[in-house]
Amino acid sequence: MAPRIQRLDHHTMEKYENIWFGIAVVMSVLLAVAVFASFLSGTIPRIEDEGGGGHHLEGVKNGRINSRNFAGTPFATPGLVDNKDGTYSAFVVARAFAFDPPVLKVPAGKPVTFYLTSADVLHGYYVEKTNVNATVVPGQVASFTTTFRSPGPLNIVCDEYCGVGHHNMLNKIIVEAPQP
Ligand code: CUA
Repeated sequence: MAPRIQRLDHHTMEKYENIWFGIAVVMSVLLAVAVFASFLSGTIPRIEDEGGGGHHLEGVKNGRINSRNFAGTPFATPGLVDNKDGTYSAFVVARAFAFDPPVLKVPAGKPVTFYLTSADVLHGYYVEKTNVNATVVPGQVASFTTTFRSPGPLNIVCDEYCGVGHHNMLNKIIVEAPQP
């Protein structure tokens, strides 16, 4: 005996259609409210300061930089800068497939503020044996401050896949003992 299939008449089907349509409308409204509420409460990520830490960098506006031309910015001459107040700034450019400078020498026990940017695609900046791990985005400046405690060499590894040479994108930080 074939199972009895319950057929809905036209009127009942329309009723169900209207119910599901109503549910879809309610969900759309809730989504719109959630998006609008998060917009108002500022949970959308925004870049608001001058490239991190409230520092002002030449040629960098709101953390943004022209990734094709570093002229007039500190990234034109990457490397360590002694701020003459016991702190240091390190400017690093990532490009496929190396970091510039290839070897960054930093003093042990002094706060170093890093400014990182990319000349081409997305890269990562991970320093082994530390909690330093930043994403390097073209057109933006990433910034953080850290102090290296013990002297010695540390490998910098790109940990964002960036192309065929990604696995070779490996440079060094050399932490130097303070000069007596
Ligand atoms: Cu640069 Cu992976």
